[in-house]
Amino acid sequence: MAEVELKNVIKSFMGGKITALQDINLKIPNGMFTSILGPSGCGKTTLLRLVAGLEKPDAGEVLIRDSVVNDVSPRERNIAMVFQNYALYPHKRVFENMAIGLRLRGYPEHDIKKKVVGVARMLKIEDFMERYPKQLSGGQQQRVALGRALVREPEVFLLDEPLSNLDAQVREVTRTELKRLFKDLQATVIYVTHDQTEAMMMSDFVVVMNHGTVKQTGEPISIYNDPDHRFVAEFLGTHRINLLHGRIEQAKFISDDGFIVFDTKIKTQGNVLAGIRPEHILLSTHKEIPLKGISVLIETIGSTHLVSVRVGENEFKILTAETPNLQKQIMASFSLHDVYFFDDQSGRRLRPDFF
Ligand SMILES: Nc1ncnc2c1ncn2[C@@H]1O[C@H](COP(=O)(O)OP(=O)(O)OP(=O)(O)O)[C@@H](O)[C@H]1O
Ligand SMILES: [Mg+2]
Repeated sequence: MAEVELKNVIKSFMGGKITALQDINLKIPNGMFTSILGPSGCGKTTLLRLVAGLEKPDAGEVLIRDSVVNDVSPRERNIAMVFQNYALYPHKRVFENMAIGLRLRGYPEHDIKKKVVGVARMLKIEDFMERYPKQLSGGQQQRVALGRALVREPEVFLLDEPLSNLDAQVREVTRTELKRLFKDLQATVIYVTHDQTEAMMMSDFVVVMNHGTVKQTGEPISIYNDPDHRFVAEFLGTHRINLLHGRIEQAKFISDDGFIVFDTKIKTQGNVLAGIRPEHILLSTHKEIPLKGISVLIETIGSTHLVSVRVGENEFKILTAETPNLQKQIMASFSLHDVYFFDDQSGRRLRPDFF
């Protein structure tokens, strides 16, 4: 299975008025499940279409297994793409929808049948082979679209938000099935999603994008634990990170309202944002930096609660299994180790320096 690489890729639309991708440099690892994660309009589909050969870059190179493929047609790239809307042929039965790629490539009938039946069995759609797409549920159609890609045995699978039309429950089951399936195949998968949970749960490798640029790449857990940019810290995580405006003076953090002051190991002076995840603040005084405030809102999520605590002019969200009362004094704490500092202007992570 091939590795995909983008070198200095630029892509714009409307005669340069819209820049969809700005100077992308990216290596997609071989045989792994990679998610392209980012908000709507950040360039995810454009990136996928460039890899598929459905769009040409304005500048830069797309490589598959170390070969530049800029001038190679989509059909010759040995890549299969599953589109968000499935793009099934409404007048063809399921079997023909799945077989079409093999037919176009001139496979003998016997081989086509064998492959399609094998994949249909794996995806548990073998009973639907004589139906038309409109006679299937969304989840079943999604599996047919996936099956059409799988029978081709491509070098790279490109999937553009393939689960977005499914309801929450089917989505969760399908997510697990897909992860297992691609793991077994050891396939190189590029999976586009704007859903951070999906990217975190399914991927070996995540590419976080914003405004046509790559913000960070890496294993899901390392991106979550060690964000390079404010955007990444805010985008990842089930509950949004608390961001506190303030400044650093002589390695001390001072919040804008002056209520929260603590020592840091940051030497840079100036305006910063301090980021602390709701799950890293405890409703106890066990950690070194105290937070004293009033509970102003409690949102219950099954067995846990998200408690909003007002401290001076700031509001923190704290994730806890306890059930605190509203409008009560709260003693909470966090440790310096769990605080990320970001430059107020650029959003870049400021790291402690030990000179
Ligand atoms: N054919 C096109 N013509 C003009 N502008 C386009 C075209 N395709 C994409 N764009 C623009 O390029 C940018 C990136 O679009 P793209 O479809 O890659 O985003 P996306 O990350 O896939 O978003 P979504 O999550 O909403 O699908 C957007 O601003 C979009 O409006
Ligand atoms: Mg898209």
